[in-house]
Amino acid sequence: MTAVLSQQYQAWDAELNAILESEEDFIANLANISAWLNMKLSQINWVGFYLLKGENLVLGPFQGNLACTRIPLGRGVCGTAAVTDSIMRIKDVHQFDGHIACDTASNAEIVLPIHRNGEVVAVLDIDSPVFERFSEEDEKGLAQLVSTIEKHVFI
Ligand code: SME
Repeated sequence: MTAVLSQQYQAWDAELNAILESEEDFIANLANISAWLNMKLSQINWVGFYLLKGENLVLGPFQGNLACTRIPLGRGVCGTAAVTDSIMRIKDVHQFDGHIACDTASNAEIVLPIHRNGEVVAVLDIDSPVFERFSEEDEKGLAQLVSTIEKHVFI
């Protein structure tokens, strides 16, 4: 099971590299990445980017319900991931103090910081209606996808 998932992410990473090779536009790429992740990942209800602008994370391209447009650094799961520069993998968002509920269907969440020149400049946020949706393998696989995104899009 673990090996299968890891192979799955390897295949997805190759696909993502191919998708990003042919386009340089920042917004076009983030828009397509969010659509592509929404197609690939099962049991999710929101996936997208928040971009760091000053002291706030501002909503970027995404798939899912209307979402909050600004998250102050240090607030919510996204703001915590950005300020601590760490992946936040939350089994049950209702147990996370300060969680910002954009979509009431969300029960689990994973947020990965995105870097340019070693600094956090954005986050990838994924929500799921399924408690404990994101495993350690998902975290590793998504971190690989984020490093591909950093290499092609945040340059
Ligand atoms: N739940 C996030 C807010 C963003 S929405 O999930 C799209 C948070 O607590 O930062």
